[in-house]
Amino acid sequence: MKTERLTKKELAKAVNWIKDGEVVAFPTETVYGLGADATNEEAVQKIFQAKGRPADNPLIIHVASVEQAEQYVTCFPEEAKRVVSNFWPGACTLVLNKKGDIASSVTADLNTIAIRMPNHPLALELIEQAGVPLAAPSANSSGKPSPTTADHVYKDLNGKIRGIIDGGATGVGLESTVLDMTDPKKPTILRPGGVTSEQLETVLGKVYHEKTSDSELFAPKSPGMKYRHYSPDKPVYILPENLEQAEKLIGALEDKKECVGLLVSEDTFESLGSLSSNHFLLGRKGYPEEAANRLYEGLRKLDESDATVILAEAYDKTGIGRAYMNRLEKAAEWLK
Ligand code: TXA
Ligand code: MG
Repeated sequence: MKTERLTKKELAKAVNWIKDGEVVAFPTETVYGLGADATNEEAVQKIFQAKGRPADNPLIIHVASVEQAEQYVTCFPEEAKRVVSNFWPGACTLVLNKKGDIASSVTADLNTIAIRMPNHPLALELIEQAGVPLAAPSANSSGKPSPTTADHVYKDLNGKIRGIIDGGATGVGLESTVLDMTDPKKPTILRPGGVTSEQLETVLGKVYHEKTSDSELFAPKSPGMKYRHYSPDKPVYILPENLEQAEKLIGALEDKKECVGLLVSEDTFESLGSLSSNHFLLGRKGYPEEAANRLYEGLRKLDESDATVILAEAYDKTGIGRAYMNRLEKAAEWLK
């Protein structure tokens, strides 16, 4: 199949493809999504095929309004309404009890459904004009870092999908927060993301965090958390925060004839005295939103470089730093 790249002026073509049951990648404010009509089982199957995604990992549906979301949940608790009025459109996905006409593979036969309204004009226009919610995972090959540009999507999925709407680089750079609100008195973050727990706590009070211990990896609440994720082909290690230790590690790897790729802030790079020719800068130290925005691009760039191992800088696990570290630890922890 030829994968066509569209400009935003050609959105009407993408709308017709969605109506015809085809799969189209589109920009959101977090990462690019791979969209299909969530009410059409055959169309949704094409998403799983193109990505190589396991069937037991359910998809988020994307809506263009709160009213549209209400059609697919049994009840929209008052607490969820508060989240929505503060953070929609935006990077917060709500998990609620499902109802209505949604293809069964979207929810992998769970009783719940994950819904969000993306904060991107092209995404909203596409959903509105298609007239149906769009099931859309991140538009990468399963296991790879999520795409933050149309080029990333093209590299992973060329020949496997009908088209890509190019809306430039995404803003947040990491996926949405997945917030389980099936028990509205115990809102639980299943996946940290673009809307931080600190922000959610301003409207909800205490917010809980789902822990993924080893035993839970096989029955996690957010099924996607058990799979290999966000990983380039090359091994990723987290750089020790202590500079001396970091330099020692780099030296030891180079002694073993490894070619080190550094994924670090500008400040750390300077302190390390440009020890490595392969590097990608994450922005200023102490600005985790810059690191979040560049993490996936950096993992992809270093994967394509001469580096044989990637060493990435740790950030504080507060604010968006929590989501950054969640993705980095997953990229690093997987035994390859
Ligand atoms: O920012 C995002 O969320 C992007 C853009 C495209 O919207 N989408 C995205 O989708 O990251 P995906 O499929 O890569 O991740 C969706 C996550 C997975 O971990 C999945 O297991 C979880 O949401 N999920 C989906 N439905 C769920 C449900 N009913 N209950 C719990 N977790 C669910
Ligand atoms: Mg994904």
